[in-house]
Amino acid sequence: MKEYAICIVGGGSRYTPDMLAMLCNQKERFPLRKIVLYDNENERQDVVGAYAEILFKEYYPELKELVYTTDPDTAFSDIDFALMQIRAGRLNMREQDEKIAIKHGCLGQETCGAGGFAYGMRSIPAVVEIIKQIREKSPECWILNYSNPAAIVAEATNRIYSDDKRIINICDMPIAIMDMYAAVLGKKRKDLEPKYFGLNHFGWFTNIYDRETGEDYLPRLKEILKTPVDVQTEPLFQEPSWKATFKFMSTMIQDYDEYLPNTYLQYYLYPRKMFEKQNSDYTRANEVMDGNEKETYERMETIIALGKIKGTEFAITEDVGCHAEYIVDLATALANNTKEVFLLMTENKGIIENLDRHMMVEVPCRVGSSGVEPLVVGTVPTFYKGLIEQQYAYEKLTVDAYLEGSKKKAMQALVLNRTVVNTDTAIALLEDLIKANKEYWRELK
Ligand code: G6P
Ligand code: MN
Repeated sequence: MKEYAICIVGGGSRYTPDMLAMLCNQKERFPLRKIVLYDNENERQDVVGAYAEILFKEYYPELKELVYTTDPDTAFSDIDFALMQIRAGRLNMREQDEKIAIKHGCLGQETCGAGGFAYGMRSIPAVVEIIKQIREKSPECWILNYSNPAAIVAEATNRIYSDDKRIINICDMPIAIMDMYAAVLGKKRKDLEPKYFGLNHFGWFTNIYDRETGEDYLPRLKEILKTPVDVQTEPLFQEPSWKATFKFMSTMIQDYDEYLPNTYLQYYLYPRKMFEKQNSDYTRANEVMDGNEKETYERMETIIALGKIKGTEFAITEDVGCHAEYIVDLATALANNTKEVFLLMTENKGIIENLDRHMMVEVPCRVGSSGVEPLVVGTVPTFYKGLIEQQYAYEKLTVDAYLEGSKKKAMQALVLNRTVVNTDTAIALLEDLIKANKEYWRELK
């Protein structure tokens, strides 16, 4: 079996340690010869790198090379896959995004609304620059991008690198939701095959088929999920805000009983309710900084001091990072031509007949060594079409605002967002966001 070389871009991320442990667990079906960790921050990269050395010595002795670096030329040479998970401006800027939006009476969220807009304007140049650097060194490698806000990043990469068919934009939320469906049905996620349409963080499941029998579980799931469920699928979702999000699904299903919604639709369909739930002094960024981010780094520091993992409380279990397995599934599909179906962001081109051909939709796609082949959806009903078109116009105008440096388009984008709406609010928000993002945004005129 061929052995691959991969680079994790954003190697200092709190997601990296579990991802690395997961790669150890997956070495039979996705064997690696080289793992590169790349980050632009030395201090964080060194911690994850030192942890990785211990991890691989014990759990991946077959691995020939571990590199951790802040030099892009070193990082991107001789790689087959780049897994991109960067956060431009880190959690400090996420906190700003959320708090500035709340200050203006709007929802403060990482990928939705004003927060997602601000993050998008930071992410686009960062992602675009990294792709350019990757292509200089590894013109053929697959770039699996899951940097947020994925909808905007996907729109930007599709416009800027329109001929590059080896950039694939993916989000794990549909997978996490399907893990939950599988749990309530007493099945495994891979027993299920979804039909789905929409945009990233803005879509609906229309069918959930049993891969074997062909039974559609959608009616049963709707019945079950009308009552709030307590998900136990992974540690992240045990956090109070995620628990609340999964529970809120029941309200959405009661109010809209046609399809099953992506969790993120709560922000667009109930912006006032979600706004009222927020704490302007302590947002999700604060929760993550004080919680998962801190714990993950402390755990790595402890392991580095111990010098070992095996035989300690940190020993790798079979299910560590199992949720992130989807990324290996995707890489394996590309490498081994498995033709498995994934929900991916891709240019519409008629897949959803009654929507713009250039829209970056999120739909089921068959994946093999020649790339991504979207599967036909057909037409979508007026209500969904209206919502999607408005949201896509927001996403497109955000990318236009970036490409043209246009303040007018930035304002128009915000007005089109269902969590902002008012023109005066959009104008005031934009002024504050420009000030806060001086270091990151291109100038808007
Ligand atoms: C889901 C979404 C991601 C998001 C992540 C973490 O997996 O698909 O886009 O970044 O949740 O969100 P959090 O608020 O926990 O940082
Ligand atoms: Mn996502």
